[in-house]
Amino acid sequence: MKKKKISTSILSADFSRLGEDTKTVLESGADMLHFDIMDNHYVENLTFGPIICKSLRNYGITAPIDVHLMIKPVDRIIPEFANSGANIISFHPETSEHIDKTIQIIKDCGCKVGLVFNPATPLSYLKYSINKIDMIVLMSVNPGFGGQLFINNTFNKIKDTKKIIDKSGYNIDLSIDGGINISNISKISNLGANIFVIGSAIFKEKNYKLIINQLKKKIIS
Ligand code: DX5
Ligand code: ZN
Repeated sequence: MKKKKISTSILSADFSRLGEDTKTVLESGADMLHFDIMDNHYVENLTFGPIICKSLRNYGITAPIDVHLMIKPVDRIIPEFANSGANIISFHPETSEHIDKTIQIIKDCGCKVGLVFNPATPLSYLKYSINKIDMIVLMSVNPGFGGQLFINNTFNKIKDTKKIIDKSGYNIDLSIDGGINISNISKISNLGANIFVIGSAIFKEKNYKLIINQLKKKIIS
């Protein structure tokens, strides 16, 4: 059984005190950080670049950082995120002209590879890539913003993806990204996900430790 982890999306953190806020959320029990990189081209929002990754590493953040690239084209900036301290780099197949090449660029930079599926993106992209990736990310919201509602079609997609992973025999993390909260996390976990990307449901709370404990109680494997 793969370890269940909470990956906090810093998109909903307090950017006026980002180092402190991320340190607190990690000390409160979050397992890793999720960076949503948006370019106002592939998605209609603009967030931040490798400099934020580097500054949090310089600040002393040592937890795994999962960089979710919602940018197009995607290849050029991958090495900069890797050199700034990313551990996992995930991308949407629609943002790459050559998916296998993008996977190889991430690997050559020494990072783990995530492939990200928008709500209606078919799982067929896995057919010729599943043996090369470390994580599958299912978007349970349409990419671009935090604080959106969970798209219920995702439940069936989790089931379908889990079947593909189990049949493949590969040791692949299944991450769900967007709209996760205390009311849907146990169903998501029971269907087979092991990484839960959570932003607003945690950062909107005053007491991170309390909400993270409540969320973790719901996903005990
Ligand atoms: C959306 C991002 C998600 C989002 C998660 O495009 O990929 O990571 O920030 O935030 P919540 O948990 O608020 O939906
Ligand atoms: Zn994300």
